[in-house]
Amino acid sequence: MTGIIIPGALDGRVAVVTGASSGIGEATAEMLAALGAKVALLARRADRLDAAASRIQGNGGTALAVPTDVTDRAQVLVAADRVARELGEVDLVFANAGVQLISSISDLKAADWDAQIDLNVKGVMNTIQAFLPALEAAAAAGRTADLVATSSIAATRVLEKFQVYSGTKAYVSHLTRLLRTELGRKNIRVSTVEPGMVDTELPDHVTDPDASKLMADLIEQIDVLQSRDVAETVAFVVGLPKHVNLTEITILPTQQII
Ligand SMILES: NC(=O)c1ccc[n+]([C@@H]2O[C@H](COP(=O)([O-])OP(=O)(O)OC[C@H]3O[C@@H](n4cnc5c(N)ncnc54)[C@H](OP(=O)(O)O)[C@@H]3O)[C@@H](O)[C@H]2O)c1
Repeated sequence: MTGIIIPGALDGRVAVVTGASSGIGEATAEMLAALGAKVALLARRADRLDAAASRIQGNGGTALAVPTDVTDRAQVLVAADRVARELGEVDLVFANAGVQLISSISDLKAADWDAQIDLNVKGVMNTIQAFLPALEAAAAAGRTADLVATSSIAATRVLEKFQVYSGTKAYVSHLTRLLRTELGRKNIRVSTVEPGMVDTELPDHVTDPDASKLMADLIEQIDVLQSRDVAETVAFVVGLPKHVNLTEITILPTQQII
């Protein structure tokens, strides 16, 4: 444990993490559990979720693996019921699942456009639909309530071949700003984390060879972020006193100039 993240800081909290089977989501689920939260892990790969949940339990934490495709609204609603039954009322949501499929717009990879919009935009909305009532109830009962989304530095930067991915992340960043207009008054904190290059499975899904090379080279050339770095940032955000909402956080590798 580093920095000012205090063990026990999240005792009594119930968290949901989407995209918890790898990368940033997995590391954040482990971090939140280490700080005392009960954590529900959502993603599609059940074996990876089970392994992560077992590790958390082995370290004395509480975790529930809930295999869910967050692009399927009905599945997310079923997951929310199960989490409420088995862990209690959710007061912390980390809407993190996302996919990056970079390509030239002229390649007209419509299936990749759809996949990014379905997960990065609609998946986030499905997550909000399923868990916002719990956040509202938690806040109304006087508990701390957090909605944190993973956007990207791509939300604000102009990068060739990133059009659709950047568009989805710009949606997430601006959505979180707008959500605060209603949810802030209800005492629900809303935050967005915009990471630069993090060493995860994300580039593995990119089919464009130039874009894959660009990311692989960056990982070779500079000391990029690790998932744990983002996890610690999220833990810091949700561990702040209830009246403090750190709303937008850009986190870059020191050597990434962008
Ligand atoms: N890595 C970076 O450099 C970077 C930078 C900025 C922002 N981000 C953002 O960080 C977030 C996490 O990505 P990552 O870097 O940790 O990559 P990752 O390791 O590929 O993680 C993506 C996660 O999303 C899950 N996921 C994919 N499709 C899903 C679906 N339909 N339903 C539920 N879960 C689904 C994946 O699990 P399953 O395949 O098991 O479903 C996986 O757990 C994404 O939103 C990404 O855009 C990453």
